[in-house]
Amino acid sequence: MNCFCFYARKALTVNNTMMENSENNKPVIYRCDGVNCRKKKGKLLDYYIKKYKLKDKIEVDEMDCNNRCEQAPVLHLHPEDIWFSEKDLGTIVKRHILNK
Ligand code: FES
Repeated sequence: MNCFCFYARKALTVNNTMMENSENNKPVIYRCDGVNCRKKKGKLLDYYIKKYKLKDKIEVDEMDCNNRCEQAPVLHLHPEDIWFSEKDLGTIVKRHILNK
């Protein structure tokens, strides 16, 4: 896997942040803020938050590049530990957030 992302060295710090954010028991969706994901400017997360009124049901935070750039824009659902591309967001929201 090739990733030329500037933020790659910071990737390990994401796990500590995830533990802190999960204390309120809400699922957390981390949106990659790395260069390659930002280039693709994913907007589907905002769309689904509005569509399914998820604002009070989930937390949204940003993470650094995790070397999954070929799937950009990349998201991560915590605590389920599911990495996915934005194109799969609808399925993830329905199955893991809305439990449909
Ligand atoms: S920029 Fe590398 S995974 Fe997002």
